[in-house]
Amino acid sequence: MKNLRTITRLFFCAFPIILLTGCQGSLSTFSSVTPNAAATSNLTGIVFWIAAVVFVVVEGLLMIAIFKFRKKSKEDPTKSGMPKQVEGNRVFETLWTMAPTLVLAVLFILTFITLQSVIQPPQDASAAAAGPNVMHIQVTGHQWWWQFDYPAQKITTADEIHIPIDTVVMVDIKSADVIHSFWVPQFGGKVDAIPGHNNNTWFKASQTGVFKGECGEYCGAEHAQMAFQVIVDSPEDFQTWVKGQQASAVDVHGDAAEGKLIFMTGACSGCHGIQGTNAAGKTAPNLTHLASRKIFSGGVLNNTPENLTKWVSNPETVKPGTLMPTLGLSQDEVAKLVAYLETLK
Ligand code: CUA
Repeated sequence: MKNLRTITRLFFCAFPIILLTGCQGSLSTFSSVTPNAAATSNLTGIVFWIAAVVFVVVEGLLMIAIFKFRKKSKEDPTKSGMPKQVEGNRVFETLWTMAPTLVLAVLFILTFITLQSVIQPPQDASAAAAGPNVMHIQVTGHQWWWQFDYPAQKITTADEIHIPIDTVVMVDIKSADVIHSFWVPQFGGKVDAIPGHNNNTWFKASQTGVFKGECGEYCGAEHAQMAFQVIVDSPEDFQTWVKGQQASAVDVHGDAAEGKLIFMTGACSGCHGIQGTNAAGKTAPNLTHLASRKIFSGGVLNNTPENLTKWVSNPETVKPGTLMPTLGLSQDEVAKLVAYLETLK
């Protein structure tokens, strides 16, 4: 019994720590890198401190009341410590009506101002929607991966977004099947991806690096495996990436050429597209520059030849429920296919 109590106490001490560890790391909403995310987390801070003051004052008064007016003696009911009863005290009534009203009014105004700055991109961006420091990305949610199109650059990719630092990025969000939610915690709030309806958001990243994104709306079996990455590049690195992505597939030889034949004549090309080849499928991720990506399959796997082999051989064991079918290829065919995929840099 005593042991159980100790364990229970330990659990309740450790529980907040376990919870708080969720606030750390690259999925934290507190380490914002865009102005709209910063506005939201600043507001969270203000609300927290106002709530903290209210908590201390209210709980403090409660504690004072409990201790000061507690029943002091069991034997003598006249020493119960009952305070003088007051009713309809105009000063008190006014005070405790005005105080919460004031607090709520302040919160309302702050929230309203913050919402405006979260929704509206900087003035210069909307005035010059096609200016040099503004770019557009079309995001499409699929079960269970993300497609990214850059209309001006004529790039289609998956699982990874590259954006240049200090650039306003206007993001249009839609879905190809069910409702998903586009979410990069360090970039701001979630935005739903809804079939037949365009939503939008914007961001302007202030530091280079890799930032994790997730699907934030339950969307089926592999909802938890619908991640992506935003890679914020220096302007030079971004230009290099764009040039690389715009290049068409190179000629291949040997095993890779045999792999290409399997890809083009088999089921692959029906769903996947590769620019510069006959593969024009649109229902699965575009693979034109697959080998340049660090992750694939909705961020489930790091992009290595071993993982590609595992995935192509039997996707169902890696991501149960995936729409990618098991193709029933021989080991030799898989090796050739992976050799081909590795040339797609
Ligand atoms: Cu897509 Cu959850």
